[in-house]
Amino acid sequence: MLRFGEMKNTLNEHLMGLFSACLVQLFFGAALASAQTPASSAPVFRLDGGNATYAFGVNERGDLQALYWGGRLGPNDVIAPARSFPEWASFDSPNTTTPQEFAGWGGGLFTEPALKITFADGNRDLGLHFVKATHASQDNYVILMKDISREIYVTLRYSMDPDTGVLSRSADIENREKEPVMIEQLAAAQWTLPPAHYTLNYLTGRWAGEWTLNQEPLRQGARVFESRRGTTGHQANPWFAISRQDSPGPAGPLTAGEEHGEVWFGALAWSGSWRFTVEETQLDFVRVTGGFNPFDFGYKLKPGEHLETPVFYGGYSSRGLGGASRLLHKFEIARVLPQAPDPKLRPVIYNSWEATEFNVDQTGQIALAEKAASIGVDRFVMDDGWFGQRKDDHAGLGDWYVNPKKFPNGLKPLIDKVHALGMDFGLWVEPEMVNPDSDLYRKHPDWVLNFPGRPRTEQRNQMVLNLARPDVREYVEGFLDKLLSENDIAFLKWDYNRNWSEPGWDQVPPDEQRRVYIDFIRNLYAILADLRRKHPKVEIESCSGGGGRVDLGVLHYTDEVWPSDNTDPFDRLAMQDGFSYAYTPQVMMAWVTDSPHWLNFRSTSLTYRLLSSMQGSLGIGANLNKWTPEDFTTAKRLIAAYHSVQRTIVRGDLYRLISPRDDSAFSSTESVSGDKSQAVVFAFTHSTQEGRGFPLLQLRGLDPNADYQVIWIEGKALLGTPDRASGAWWMNHGINFDLRGDFGAAAFRLDRVR
Ligand code: GLA
Repeated sequence: MLRFGEMKNTLNEHLMGLFSACLVQLFFGAALASAQTPASSAPVFRLDGGNATYAFGVNERGDLQALYWGGRLGPNDVIAPARSFPEWASFDSPNTTTPQEFAGWGGGLFTEPALKITFADGNRDLGLHFVKATHASQDNYVILMKDISREIYVTLRYSMDPDTGVLSRSADIENREKEPVMIEQLAAAQWTLPPAHYTLNYLTGRWAGEWTLNQEPLRQGARVFESRRGTTGHQANPWFAISRQDSPGPAGPLTAGEEHGEVWFGALAWSGSWRFTVEETQLDFVRVTGGFNPFDFGYKLKPGEHLETPVFYGGYSSRGLGGASRLLHKFEIARVLPQAPDPKLRPVIYNSWEATEFNVDQTGQIALAEKAASIGVDRFVMDDGWFGQRKDDHAGLGDWYVNPKKFPNGLKPLIDKVHALGMDFGLWVEPEMVNPDSDLYRKHPDWVLNFPGRPRTEQRNQMVLNLARPDVREYVEGFLDKLLSENDIAFLKWDYNRNWSEPGWDQVPPDEQRRVYIDFIRNLYAILADLRRKHPKVEIESCSGGGGRVDLGVLHYTDEVWPSDNTDPFDRLAMQDGFSYAYTPQVMMAWVTDSPHWLNFRSTSLTYRLLSSMQGSLGIGANLNKWTPEDFTTAKRLIAAYHSVQRTIVRGDLYRLISPRDDSAFSSTESVSGDKSQAVVFAFTHSTQEGRGFPLLQLRGLDPNADYQVIWIEGKALLGTPDRASGAWWMNHGINFDLRGDFGAAAFRLDRVR
C-alpha cells in the first residue's frame, strides 16, 4: 500500500501534468489544456448549442468521463482527451476519484452510482466500459457501454438543443444475460461541475405552500431531494440550479445572482418517485445524480428486456438565474409541451370550485357561465361534483357517469349553453382514484394499491387505483375516451388528490411488484398520449391538490398546470416567483378568487387580485353571484387588457426585477416579447412604511435604440415622467411611480413606436 504522502505526490504530479496547477481550475484545465497534453486516440465527444458546450470522453480505463460543461468554446478549440484520476491515498480508487458520466456500482465506487444491479448469482459488481458511439447528427450522440464481463448493456442518449444549449440525457439498460437481474438503483444522468464555490437553489413546499425557492451554500457531502410518494410531490420539485459564487467578472470574481454569473441547472422529466443527489466530492467536484428514486425500488429485468429512464435535462447560463430560467422557459415552449413549438395561449378560464365546491348543478352552472361570459372569459370549467353519487369527498370517485339529479339531461344542455355564450367547455376528473363508497370499488376492491391482509389507508376518503394493472389502465382510458367522445369537451382538469400508501401489487410475483413505481407512471403517460391522439382538440391540465404533479414529464402530455390550491393573491406572488425559476408562465394557471381569502382571511382589492393572476395564465374562480356591478366592470376592463398583452406575459423573456421573497415590501416583474416590441411590467406592494414610494424600476431587455411608449394598465407615473422614451432611458434612467399602501398593484406596458 502506498503511504498517504507518496500517494499525494503521485496525484499532484498527475494533476500538474494533466491540468492547470490551480485546483479550482482542475476541471476546466482538463478541457482546455489540450495544447500541452500529448495527443491520444481516445475519443472526445462534444456538443454545442446556444451559449453552451458539453464534452465528455473515454479514458484509458474505458470509462466515460466528464470533460467540460460551461460557456460555449470556439469551434476549433481542442478538448484534451480524458485521463482517469489516480487513487486518493489507498482509500479511494480511480473509480471514485474520476468524474464518470454514468458510473456503475462496483470497483470501489464510493460516490453516488448511476446504476446498481444484483445478478442472479449474487454478483453485485458492475463496471461499465465504453463500446461505441453513434453520432447521428451534430446535435446528438448515442453511446453504448457494457459491463466488463457480463452481458449488461447501457445506451446513453445525448441530445443538445441548438437554440438554448439545453442537453437532454437518458439511459437505457438492456439485459442480454441468460438470467434475470435486479436493478436496484437507476439514474437518468449524472452531471459534473468544475471545482468551485457554489450556491444550491432548489424548490420545496407543501400543500397550499408550494414553490419556495431555497438558496444555500454547497458544502462537501451530499444533499438529497426526492419524492417517495409515487408522484412528483408538493414537497420538492425535480429541478435544481447551481450558481457559482466566484464567477469570473470584469472587476474580479463575483457571486452569480439574478442577472449575472454562471448557473448550471437541470430538471427531470418524471412524475413518479424521484431522487436528486447533489454531492460535493472530496476533490471538490460537484456531481448531480438524478432519476428513479432507489427507495423501495427494484426492477427485475428479464433476459432480453430493456428499462429506459426518463429524460434529465441540463443547461448552462452565464446570465444568472434569470438567464437560466429564460432558457428553460424557451426550451419548454419549443421542445417539451404537447403543442410545441408554438402552443396556443391559454384561454382565460372560469372555474366554480371555490364558489360552489361540490354543489354543482345545471341551473347554478349556467348562471355562473352567463356571468363569466359577460367579462370576457374564454373557457368555462365545471369542477368536482358532477358525477356518480358525489355530494362531498366521501363518495363517487370511480363512477364516471353524469349525476342524474344534478344534470337530468346529461351534460349537453350545459355544454350547449356554454358554447352559445361564446366559450368552450372543460371538465374536472380524477381518474386514478376511487372512493370505497363507489360502485367501482364494490365491484373491484382488488384494483387499489394495497398489501392484502393489511389496512388500506384512506386519505381524503379515497384510495389509489393501481394504474400499472392492464385492466385498470383499460378502464380509465375507456371511460375518458367515452366521456370525450360523447360530449363536446375542450379541456380536462386532471386531478390527483393523494399520494401512495401500501403500494402493493399482489397479482404479479413478489420480485416484480415494485415495477409499480414505473409501470404506473408509464401507463399514465400512455393514457394521456392516447387520449390526445384520439381527441386532438382536447387540452389537459395537470393538477394534484394544487402543484403536486408539475414536472417536465407530465408537461410533455399536458398543456398547463395548477400551481397551488392556495389562491391568496399575495401568497401567490412568492409562489409564482418560485415557480418561474423552473417553469414557463405559459403553463402557470392563476385564478382570481374571493376576498377575504379562505386561507389567510386577507382582504385585497379585485384589482390587486387580477394583477397578481395576470402574471401567468389568467383564470377567474370567484363566486360571480356575489360580485357588484363595479366588480364586473373592473374585471371586464382588466381581462381585455390581459388579452391584449397575454402573449408578451406568458411567452416573453421574464425578468424578476424585485423579488417578493424575504419579506420584501415590494415586488415587480417585467416580460419582454421575443422581438423586443413590447414589455409588460407588474408592480405590487405588501405594505409601505413612512410614506416611502415604490423603488425606482430600471427595466431590462429592451432595445436601447428603439423608442417605447408607456401605456398604463393600472396606476400612473409621477409627474414629469415622459410618455415616450428610448429603451436606454427606461433601462438606465428608470421609472418612478406612486404606489403606496398595503396590497397595492400597478401594471403598464411599453410599446415600441420606432
Ligand atoms: C383539488 C384541486 C382543486 C379542486 C378540488 C376538487 O384540491 O386542486 O382545485 O379541483 O381538488 O375536489
